[in-house]
Amino acid sequence: MAASPLDRLVIAKPDDWHIHLRDGAMLRAVLPYTAAQFARGIIMPNLVPPVTSVEAASAYRDRILAALPEGQSFTPLMTCYLTDATSPDEIERGFREKVWIAAKLYPAGATTNSHAGVTDLGNIAPVLERMERIGMPLLIHGEVTDPAVDIFDREAVFMETKLLPLLARHQGLKVTVEHATTAEILDVVRAHAPRVAATITPHHLVINRTHIFQGGLRPHLYCLPVAKRERHRLALRKAATSGESCFYLGTDTAPHPVGAKESACGCAGVFCGPTALQTYVQVFDEEGALDKFEGFASLNGARFHGLAPNAETITLERRPCRVVSCVAVDETEVVVFRGDETLPWTIGSA
Ligand code: NCD
Ligand code: ZN
Repeated sequence: MAASPLDRLVIAKPDDWHIHLRDGAMLRAVLPYTAAQFARGIIMPNLVPPVTSVEAASAYRDRILAALPEGQSFTPLMTCYLTDATSPDEIERGFREKVWIAAKLYPAGATTNSHAGVTDLGNIAPVLERMERIGMPLLIHGEVTDPAVDIFDREAVFMETKLLPLLARHQGLKVTVEHATTAEILDVVRAHAPRVAATITPHHLVINRTHIFQGGLRPHLYCLPVAKRERHRLALRKAATSGESCFYLGTDTAPHPVGAKESACGCAGVFCGPTALQTYVQVFDEEGALDKFEGFASLNGARFHGLAPNAETITLERRPCRVVSCVAVDETEVVVFRGDETLPWTIGSA
């Protein structure tokens, strides 16, 4: 990493290990923002219908590549959406054919477009055994779905009742705890590293649960897992900036049309793609950890997934930048996380 002076960083181009790109007009609108910041990305499979077969993943990858504007490059890394009916052979075939690099576990009903997800981990035991055998990582949305469990406790309860037993049952399975939001789950990840890792979003480093209600209801800060108390946000910042290789970048950028967010029953998801790197680097700067940024953004995730870091570099400068506040999609728009702010860091040199 070249960092001289410290208001300018040149690092290997980062990868985003958790992205919702959607499809159609939304895909075409949001993809350029992700491709501007990231060389590769793990594409979430929670489309309607979800991406559950090798053919569907391959076709979705083609649509993403076709949506990429002239002059931009980006490598989508596909995932399989696990259901109660997923077959171990299909999982292995997609992995061996290099169509997908991981499988995604959504507990049924946990989040946006997860109703086709897994209702009981016992139903996918043969799939997990196969994944363990072939070295294919499992990406977990780690929240329980019981409506009686307080929404702020759903990650903690998942950790105790589902994740720890799963890690004990499958001691060789590679697992990423996606969008970690609690201090306790970070310690579980540390204790099981290096075969277990966690992604951390930009928004969970910046907001706590109070921000969602600050001065009124802020629907654009609502995502799942929902932001937690301040002590958890501080633990996430410490973990991300610590240099520990089990923590890496995953934005969970999740665009929804403005009307679906500003609604009587608004969708979960923060559209942070256009401001993700600026936010992460600002956090590392505030924590006095710019020297750890390249590991988090560009090296740790690649190592976990057995890939080489990107040869291309990206420059980040401490120079105020006004970012787009929203992105037009068809007749509507998507509101950008921190899009109304002037951010202290800019991507690219002057
Ligand atoms: C995601 C989405 O909108 O697809 N929403 C979110 O709040 N993060 C789904 C998810 O990753 O949970
Ligand atoms: Zn997500």
